[in-house]
Amino acid sequence: MGLNIIKHPVIEHKISILRNINTSTNEFRQVVQEISTLMVYEITRDFKLEERIIQTPITETKVQVLEGKKLAIVPILRAGLGMVDGILSVLPTAKVGHIGLYRDENTLKAIEYFAKFPSDLAKRDILLVDPMLATGATAIAAIDILKKQGATSIKIVCLVGCPEGVLAVEQVHPEVDIYLAALDEKLNENGYIVPGLGDAGDRLFGTK
Ligand code: URA
Repeated sequence: MGLNIIKHPVIEHKISILRNINTSTNEFRQVVQEISTLMVYEITRDFKLEERIIQTPITETKVQVLEGKKLAIVPILRAGLGMVDGILSVLPTAKVGHIGLYRDENTLKAIEYFAKFPSDLAKRDILLVDPMLATGATAIAAIDILKKQGATSIKIVCLVGCPEGVLAVEQVHPEVDIYLAALDEKLNENGYIVPGLGDAGDRLFGTK
């Protein structure tokens, strides 16, 4: 509960590829997907199981299957899109919503420009995904939007975070669990995570 930093040698290795300035757009996109897939193992650790009786080729037996809780993956546009397919590869029945936010240059507030969700969002466990948890302002605004839609079960899943962003989210939305593959040192004066990996959206989509 609270902050979960997923520590695993394979994830750490793959994060090192994302950090490297020489990693191509193609490899960056692939590795973001792979880490997102690996993170599902921890994110779903509290999922409930239920008993079923099935027939194996040999005999009848009791097995444990996932309770079939409904899920929604909600990427924050645009960088969050890079994580969706990796999560769907192991949770293929999840529905996908989208939230688009931009920062007003004068007020510095996050302004919603797009939001579309499954109609039964309020009943779903939500995985809000964005590769970077920087100031936390976007994540907080996205969680506000989800709560306005009735959402009560929200986990935020990011690849790289920093103490400033974690603290900000924890202060405003203390019941939201945060999952990170790496907790970095700090935020710099330009709002980038240090050491970080640069602009996740630009690196995913080859823009500048
Ligand atoms: N968003 C990014 O893409 N990178 C950062 O370091 C911070 C915010």
